[in-house]
Amino acid sequence: MPSRARDSPGRQWAILLIGTLSWLAAAVLAQAPPSTYLRTPSWRQLDWQRLELYAFIHFGHNTFTDEEWGRSQSTPDVFSPTALDTDQWAKTFADAGMAGMILTAKHHDGMALWETNTTTYQIGSGAWARDRVEQGLDADLARMAAASAKKHGLRFGIYLSPWDIHRDAALPKAHLAGTPNDEPQIFGDDSPGDYNAFYAQQLTELVSMRLDDGSAVELSGSDTVQTFNWTLFRDIIREYQPNAVMWGHQGVDARWVGNEDGWTVATNWHSINRTQDDERYSEGELQTGVRGGTYWTPAEADARLRDGWFYHANETSKTADALLEMYLSWVGRSVNLLLDVPPDTTGQIPAADVDIFLDFRAQRDAFLNRELLTSSIAVNASSIRGGNSALYGPSNVLDGDGDTY
Ligand SMILES: *[C@@H]1O[C@H](CO)[C@@H](O)[C@H](O)[C@H]1NC(C)=O
Ligand SMILES: *[C@@H]1O[C@H](CO)[C@@H](O)[C@H](O)[C@H]1NC(C)=O
Ligand SMILES: *[C@@H]1O[C@H](CO)[C@@H](O)[C@H](O)[C@H]1NC(C)=O
Ligand SMILES: *[C@@H]1O[C@H](CO)[C@@H](O)[C@H](O)[C@H]1NC(C)=O
Ligand SMILES: *[C@@H]1O[C@H](CO)[C@@H](O)[C@H](O)[C@H]1NC(C)=O
Repeated sequence: MPSRARDSPGRQWAILLIGTLSWLAAAVLAQAPPSTYLRTPSWRQLDWQRLELYAFIHFGHNTFTDEEWGRSQSTPDVFSPTALDTDQWAKTFADAGMAGMILTAKHHDGMALWETNTTTYQIGSGAWARDRVEQGLDADLARMAAASAKKHGLRFGIYLSPWDIHRDAALPKAHLAGTPNDEPQIFGDDSPGDYNAFYAQQLTELVSMRLDDGSAVELSGSDTVQTFNWTLFRDIIREYQPNAVMWGHQGVDARWVGNEDGWTVATNWHSINRTQDDERYSEGELQTGVRGGTYWTPAEADARLRDGWFYHANETSKTADALLEMYLSWVGRSVNLLLDVPPDTTGQIPAADVDIFLDFRAQRDAFLNRELLTSSIAVNASSIRGGNSALYGPSNVLDGDGDTY
């Protein structure tokens, strides 16, 4: 808030008396927007902050093997959705009032959901994809999801797991031995080969992906955590997707909130004092942030609709009431919420979950659309910056415009 002393009429008169400025110039000076205080968001971060709520999609081999962390032991044929419909995902999220969706393009098991030149371990090598291609249909799940997001007005993002069990010699893959998916083990500093270059190529393929109509895929959230050559990966994302927000333990653009369970402390600062290259903050430290910190790195919370990230038939979903509570206590505390919503083995969001989201949306709209400010309520100010009611008057509080104040 601007300080009253600076805006007082006395200050303007003093300037006039000194005669260094004309009355007009003094008035303009007095009306200039307040200078920024400590750290402020980049336009990219501000744009992202307004998204508030978006979906995380974990779908792949683990969906079909009923695992959370598959060990890269099954061939691409295991990926066999019976009625895959990425439009149904996007419509469900748009109807739920979400602003976007982030697809896990590769989880720790190394299975690539897009057409890649980096590995045979991709869904494109399996029977499901071959059938689709024979029918003249797309079998690149990342591109399909991106196209559906665009169709339903959602932002799109990707998560590409840095850890890749498929390439990690520390985890033997007996079931793949001798198959075309038995590939060189390049993960780890003791392994021959350059995993950083491999990951960089995967990342480049994804961030430079084009839709069938030739348009570029626009990434908003590029959920990438990296402990390897961070500089290289950050540069690739910035080059191809300058608008993308990178999320990690403590940056680049947004940080982890410190837990995955749906809560945050009442006061959560948007700034911290470390970058992703520095020593890691503890979970407790991430929950509070650093007051007056060096970097603007707001928190993003990741949570799950069900117990796991991938779909398991034995698990139940949170209720619409629980989702509303989560929304109010996270987004309400200006922490963006990334909610995991897993498709089942058909390749769709289960109907019961769609109903939960419609209920959540109705409850949220009813809550947010309450008419609190009736015409009988007047907003007054004891002092207005530079006396300029149009720019700084109290009516700006009620105009429904987030850019006025
Ligand atoms: C559901 O099944 C998965 C996979 O088998 C298992 O990891 C998880 O613990 C089970 N969850 C519950 C709540 O039983
Ligand atoms: C794979 O390589 C081929 C031939 O160089 C190229 O046309 C294609 O675009 C590449 N695919 C990807 C996903 O980069
Ligand atoms: C990481 O990538 C950057 C940018 O390409 C490069 O300059 C640097 O040498 C790489 N670091 C290592 C350790 O390879
Ligand atoms: C954070 O950095 C600022 C300087 O930018 C310093 O004044 C402050 O003491 C630091 N706070 C913590 C908790 O490290
Ligand atoms: C507050 O604003 C209203 C509407 O502009 C006006 O009628 C009223 O007199 C003001 N009250 C005070 C105390 O200034």
